Amino acid sequence: MENNSRGAWGSRFGFIMASAGSAIGLGNLWKFPYLAGANGGGAFVLVYLGIVILLGFTMMLGELSIGRATKLNQYGAYKKINPKFGFIGGIGILTGFLILSFYSVVGGWVIKYIFQYIMGGVQQADKMGYFVSFITNPYEPLIWHGLFMAATLFIVLGGVSGGIEKASKIMMPLLFLFLIIIAIRSLTLPGAMEGLKYFLIPNWSKFNLDVLVKAMGQVFFSLSLGMGTLVTYGSYLEGHEDLPSNALTIPALDTLAALLAGIAIMPAVFAFNQEPGAGPGLMFGTLPNIFASMPLGNLFGLMFFVLVFFAAVTSAISLLEVPVSWAMDSLKWSRTKAVWIFAGLCFVIGIGASLSNGPWEQKFYFFSKDGQNFFDVLDYLTSNILLPLGGVFMSLFITFVWGYDNAFKEIKIGSKNNFAIGGFWKMSMMVGVPLMMALVFLQQTGVLAKLIGQ
Ligand code: PHE
Repeated sequence: MENNSRGAWGSRFGFIMASAGSAIGLGNLWKFPYLAGANGGGAFVLVYLGIVILLGFTMMLGELSIGRATKLNQYGAYKKINPKFGFIGGIGILTGFLILSFYSVVGGWVIKYIFQYIMGGVQQADKMGYFVSFITNPYEPLIWHGLFMAATLFIVLGGVSGGIEKASKIMMPLLFLFLIIIAIRSLTLPGAMEGLKYFLIPNWSKFNLDVLVKAMGQVFFSLSLGMGTLVTYGSYLEGHEDLPSNALTIPALDTLAALLAGIAIMPAVFAFNQEPGAGPGLMFGTLPNIFASMPLGNLFGLMFFVLVFFAAVTSAISLLEVPVSWAMDSLKWSRTKAVWIFAGLCFVIGIGASLSNGPWEQKFYFFSKDGQNFFDVLDYLTSNILLPLGGVFMSLFITFVWGYDNAFKEIKIGSKNNFAIGGFWKMSMMVGVPLMMALVFLQQTGVLAKLIGQ
């Protein structure tokens, strides 16, 4: 039962599971271990942790307080505080929409692999070749993409507490349980320690500005920041919730999941002499190789892809809820209508993303420089440009439009210890956030590379 017509969380635990569910996703499970592996192992992990502490908490607290103060969707929230600034929310809604379109394609691959492991695992000797021929097939990935979108749609139709919260409360604890089991299995393989060292021991020789920026981008994507997911989820919170403590807990859980993912994957990769930096193929090509040569490998394979599915779908529902919540508040649509329309549109854009891995590879070249396909363009545009831009806008909005006095008034409701946190928050918001965002933006658009002559 929803507590009011917009919906509200049933419990603090439910809210934390839903928000951690949004944060913990494909970003944690394949991207983080791979990035850490390729960028100096423990050095990347330490830098990532530093940025989570400086930026993650600050941005998350900002989004949550805008959401709870206005009790409105991403667009309505900014607009309510100042009618001129609805556009900040609008950019966020568009971003979420674009992310979901390609996210669902990858979610579909995950469901396909779940079925594959139910049927006895990937039989073909060349597992990477199997993966590539699957994703370049014109029809099959579309069916799985549709299934993933249907699962997302089904949960979001259930509403805030009856759908999103309920699914997250079941899936998130299971995800952690499975991840811990697989991490223990991986750590006890002969030769595992090499992988653990690779992942955790800092190698500063690889550290440079580029690594710093990559770590920042990863923090944004992984914590679901910069597009209003936490504004939307925050708008379903009651006044007595302690926002600063939630803004600490969610990044902590997300970081724990990222670390566990690295500990689950890297030792196994080294124990079986596989290549750690294989990108998207790490999960769908390299890991199936490992499962095939491991005792009870099919069982671990199944468990692994089920946990990745839980991670991906609890992120996808948060992506869908952002436009749905906007259409319900602002356009007065019913939840059912909004969910079907937006899930349908994302499915259609996702068809382009999926086909661009295969037969439509060339079709969207006009969008991209350097021959990236449509799938890559969607990923690049959202993660590296639109999310950081959303972060810059939010921090400028809080500093110059909403104002710290108003923000603090909201944050203090339900929170006992906000003095020290408040000071840190303001500092980091006013100085750190715009600076770092500018850095991400400049680097990603290649300006920085030109300035420093690389
Ligand atoms: N945080 C999710 C992940 O790591 C992705 C995501 C980004 C979800 C932005 C919502 C908003 O996979």
